[in-house]
Amino acid sequence: MTISENKIYPRTGDTETVYLKNVITDPNIEIGDYTMYNDFVCDPQDFQKNNVLYHYPVNHDRLMIGKFCSIACGAKFIFTSANHSLKSLSTYPFPIFFEEWGLDVTDITDAWDNKGDIIVGNDVWIGYEAVILSGVTIGDGAVIGSRAVVTKDIPPYTIVGGVPAKPIRKRFNDVTIARLLELKWWDWSEERIKANLKIIQSGRIDELN
Ligand SMILES: CC(C)(COP(=O)(O)OP(=O)(O)OC[C@H]1O[C@@H](n2cnc3c(N)ncnc32)[C@H](O)[C@@H]1OP(=O)(O)O)[C@@H](O)C(=O)NCCC(=O)NCCS
Repeated sequence: MTISENKIYPRTGDTETVYLKNVITDPNIEIGDYTMYNDFVCDPQDFQKNNVLYHYPVNHDRLMIGKFCSIACGAKFIFTSANHSLKSLSTYPFPIFFEEWGLDVTDITDAWDNKGDIIVGNDVWIGYEAVILSGVTIGDGAVIGSRAVVTKDIPPYTIVGGVPAKPIRKRFNDVTIARLLELKWWDWSEERIKANLKIIQSGRIDELN
């Protein structure tokens, strides 16, 4: 059993921060251990409703977030049903109003373009009110700046910002990034992480054991 198992609040007396995996009920959302969400505006337990938007079971699109991610207040994940079809001559979503227009309810998904899952790696930090669009994959260790709009895949350990989000810099040099991706410290046991915590925090990768 992990520290984040069966527990909602990681900090005593702080109900604005939750272990996300323990407040999710939607089978199309998968969250890794220790990943946390902080919300000082709304109840963070309502993440699924307030932050995962236009996400309807009929599309079968999924939100997958890895371990040890930090998600700041108001970050949003915008899914397929937000994408009014651009194949159509009109952006008006006629298939949603199938009763009005004599269309078949089974064709309702024609109203939008399905861009697919949103996949977020491990140790990703998503800044305040960032927006992640459907179909995007964010690599391990990436940082999404405050109010960035992520429209394309983000490579591992890359800091991005702006609208649309563009790389600002890498978090580490290429050698260190390659070693981190090989180490995958987030899959270590809690005992090993605890034993190495000061070294992880110091940034001295050579001293990890
Ligand atoms: C993305 C971020 C981590 C970058 O930090 P940093 O690497 O120290 O960045 P700097 O302040 O040195 O800025 C580097 C460049 O990126 C730009 N930049 C920084 N943050 C940006 C953002 N959110 N959006 C767009 N551009 C940004 C700066 O203007 C600067 O541009 P320049 O090189 O043209 O001068 C930080 O700015 C940020 O947005 N943090 C999120 C904070 C947050 O939301 N916290 C929530 C609580 S957990």
